[in-house]
Amino acid sequence: MVSNTHPIKTEDLEKLLKAAAEAGKKSYSPYSNFRVGAAALSENDEIFSGCNIENRSYPAGICAEITAVSKLISSGAKEIKAIAVIGLDSEDFLPPCGVCRQFITEFGNNFPILMANKAGNYKVVSSTDLLPSDSLHDLKKI
Ligand code: THU
Repeated sequence: MVSNTHPIKTEDLEKLLKAAAEAGKKSYSPYSNFRVGAAALSENDEIFSGCNIENRSYPAGICAEITAVSKLISSGAKEIKAIAVIGLDSEDFLPPCGVCRQFITEFGNNFPILMANKAGNYKVVSSTDLLPSDSLHDLKKI
């Protein structure tokens, strides 16, 4: 059992999932045809959602998690309490990519990550499980 910094109720995680699924419908992904949506919960219990946005110069594209968390931080919020990610075209529960793991864990410690597939089935893991041995996490506090 994972002990989270902020205990989150299942109903709140499922609300995040809904917001992520809605955002995923706005995905701009003409190159992969792989729509992803994400929704992050801030310390003030506000939800920020986003989708993947691809580009004809492939590396310029961004993931759904980056969009959602950029909105959270640029709105003035400071922390991620939980995040949901859904692959609207994915059979598998969609795990954040390596870059996203690094990006999102900057703003929270041991928070739940809900990963869903196109059927809306999901599993929840802790951010610490997805990015273990993260000895740099508290670097800014030194
Ligand atoms: N993608 C995300 O949006 N989040 C992830 O964590 C994994 C991958 C996007 C990037 C690209 O637009 C598409 O999914 C296929 O990789």
